[in-house]
Amino acid sequence: MFLKTLTSLVLAATASALATTPAVEARVCSPRHIAPPSIPDGLVLNLSTVPASYNYTGSETTGTVDPSILHFCNVTVTYTHPGKNDTIHTTVWLPFANWNGRLQGSGGGGYATRSDDTKLGDAVVKNYSVVATDGGHAVVSQTSTTWSLDADNNVNMALLEDFAYIALADAATIGKQISHSFYGRPPRHAYWNGCSTGGRQGLILAQRFPTAYNGIMAAAPAINWPSFLVAEYWPQFVMNQLQTYPATCVTDAITAATIEACDALDGVSDGVISSPDLCDFDPRTLVGTPAHNCTPAQNITRKDAEVVRRTWEGLRAANGSFLWYGLNPGAPLSRGASSLAHTTCTSSTNCTGTPFPISADWIKQFVLQDPSFDLTSFVPGDLDRILASSKARYNHIIGTDNPDLSAFKRAGGKMITWHGLADQLIFPKGTEQYYRRVEARDPTLRDFYRFFEAPGVYHCHDGPGAFPTDPLSAVVDWVENGMAPESIDAKTADGSERVLCPYPLVAVYQGGDVRDKASYECAKGY
Ligand SMILES: *[C@@H]1O[C@H](CO)[C@@H](O)[C@H](O)[C@H]1NC(C)=O
Ligand SMILES: *[C@@H]1O[C@H](CO)[C@@H](O)[C@H](O)[C@H]1NC(C)=O
Ligand SMILES: *[C@@H]1O[C@H](CO)[C@@H](O)[C@H](O)[C@H]1NC(C)=O
Ligand SMILES: *[C@@H]1O[C@H](CO)[C@@H](O)[C@H](O)[C@H]1NC(C)=O
Ligand SMILES: *[C@@H]1O[C@H](CO)[C@@H](O)[C@H](O)[C@H]1NC(C)=O
Ligand SMILES: *[C@@H]1O[C@H](CO)[C@@H](O)[C@H](O)[C@H]1NC(C)=O
Ligand SMILES: *[C@@H]1O[C@H](CO)[C@@H](O)[C@H](O)[C@H]1NC(C)=O
Ligand SMILES: *[C@@H]1O[C@H](CO)[C@@H](O)[C@H](O)[C@H]1NC(C)=O
Repeated sequence: MFLKTLTSLVLAATASALATTPAVEARVCSPRHIAPPSIPDGLVLNLSTVPASYNYTGSETTGTVDPSILHFCNVTVTYTHPGKNDTIHTTVWLPFANWNGRLQGSGGGGYATRSDDTKLGDAVVKNYSVVATDGGHAVVSQTSTTWSLDADNNVNMALLEDFAYIALADAATIGKQISHSFYGRPPRHAYWNGCSTGGRQGLILAQRFPTAYNGIMAAAPAINWPSFLVAEYWPQFVMNQLQTYPATCVTDAITAATIEACDALDGVSDGVISSPDLCDFDPRTLVGTPAHNCTPAQNITRKDAEVVRRTWEGLRAANGSFLWYGLNPGAPLSRGASSLAHTTCTSSTNCTGTPFPISADWIKQFVLQDPSFDLTSFVPGDLDRILASSKARYNHIIGTDNPDLSAFKRAGGKMITWHGLADQLIFPKGTEQYYRRVEARDPTLRDFYRFFEAPGVYHCHDGPGAFPTDPLSAVVDWVENGMAPESIDAKTADGSERVLCPYPLVAVYQGGDVRDKASYECAKGY
């Protein structure tokens, strides 16, 4: 025991303080020096290591380009949960030099439990060790067809549970143990960092594994999964009912007119609707006016306007009652395949509906268990039943909507969520509703959990609005220095600065340069 400790101390000194050489790297980055982790209900099948050099070319999320060659030990732990017939690959990247003593858990997107290597690079370039898991299935974000159903169309519940939460808790355990073994000391702190599916993962960790991470950055979270994935199909259903499929140039024209009408409601004309709730623009006022960038020129029809109005309204039952939220005015409706009222056209007057793949996949694979089902055959009432079935069967697994965060709070955890108000995929109102439900249970939630809305920002990144420049560092400051974020810094793609305010506060313009964050203060309303 003593000898082992001494050895790891020597190795730690070698690995983290001194300049490393390939020979030293090969010695420390070896299964002989890294103990296999012990995973609850898990059986390790293999632990492989590669001293790696990785050409990091900058972060997609923040748009910063900071190329550098990263040197780290690339560890892959392959394991199974006996009886579940799963095989999970969990990756840990351990920087050879200058480890900051922190572990980062890196989240996925869509159906992918982890992101690609660039996100792991984002962590290593900041001197974190980082862990990510494939959750037992291929890292493919837009469909689940390679794993969700067996030959008899039974749902692979083991892999769904791995994706939903089990592999995430395992990854925290593995990341901590491998970091400890490699550096000879455990991480001082562990942080989760993710958006979309990664945001959902952060929240389910806070809900079910409150000690897995000290700090969590859970952006644009795919919580309420069984509800919002069905609601994402609503715009396509509306188009099928109306037998009208507006071209992107038409919905873009309506979005542009909406932004023009509601931009200045916050006192600043910057191409961004800061408060969609104050925007009561009715797209029906545009009927008969030209959609300027369509070629040939084309006027907006009553049915086009209706598609937009009902996309904003959100999923409604056959009897008209509320079932789920819609997009905010100002969010793009048809932006590549990743949007909800997307159409595919041979000309701007001859289009067909193109459902968002993740939503169509959820309904066909998990709810109907019929990959060849024709979604255009839905009649009024069908989506009511699909939603009810989706929630009844899957909410307890992947709903991620439990408002009880008391155990996370007691453990001293701190969490930030931000959500773009022009998110074109995940309805920001679902995140608002969750936050209010947490608050209803615990009015002091701002002591450990804060929510920031980002006007004009699309799903996770892009859009005319200002996106947070480094929200994870705000979490780190909160955990390690007790500095609760009163606001977080944000920047537009063209360099204009803003602050984002803790919900329900909003950033109100105080006069001065509109591009300077000092011109804004967090206040109760515009
Ligand atoms: C472990 O993984 C490595 C790298 O993929 C492979 O070369 C090795 O054969 C595997 N070992 C076992 C026991 O499966
Ligand atoms: C890390 O190791 C895994 C498993 O051997 C391999 O597939 C992957 O390409 C490696 N990545 C880097 C950056 O070395
Ligand atoms: C790293 O990638 C960039 C961009 O692809 C490329 O220009 C550069 O040559 C690469 N550097 C190395 C050392 O491979
Ligand atoms: C286990 O999973 C593999 C695919 O990963 C599949 O081919 C096999 O049929 C499964 N076995 C059982 C008993 O479900
Ligand atoms: C990573 O460590 C190096 C060496 O200590 C340091 O120069 C660099 O600033 C660190 N990066 C970050 C983001 O802290
Ligand atoms: C659009 O409507 C205007 C009248 O509002 C009409 O003059 C024009 O011909 C229409 N354009 C098309 C392409 O239908
Ligand atoms: C409307 O339909 C929904 C979903 O089918 C149902 O839950 C609700 O009770 C109905 N409301 C009324 C007023 O009939
Ligand atoms: C409209 O598009 C369909 C394919 O979606 C094509 O088969 C048809 O020929 C097109 N009609 C016209 C008038 O371009």
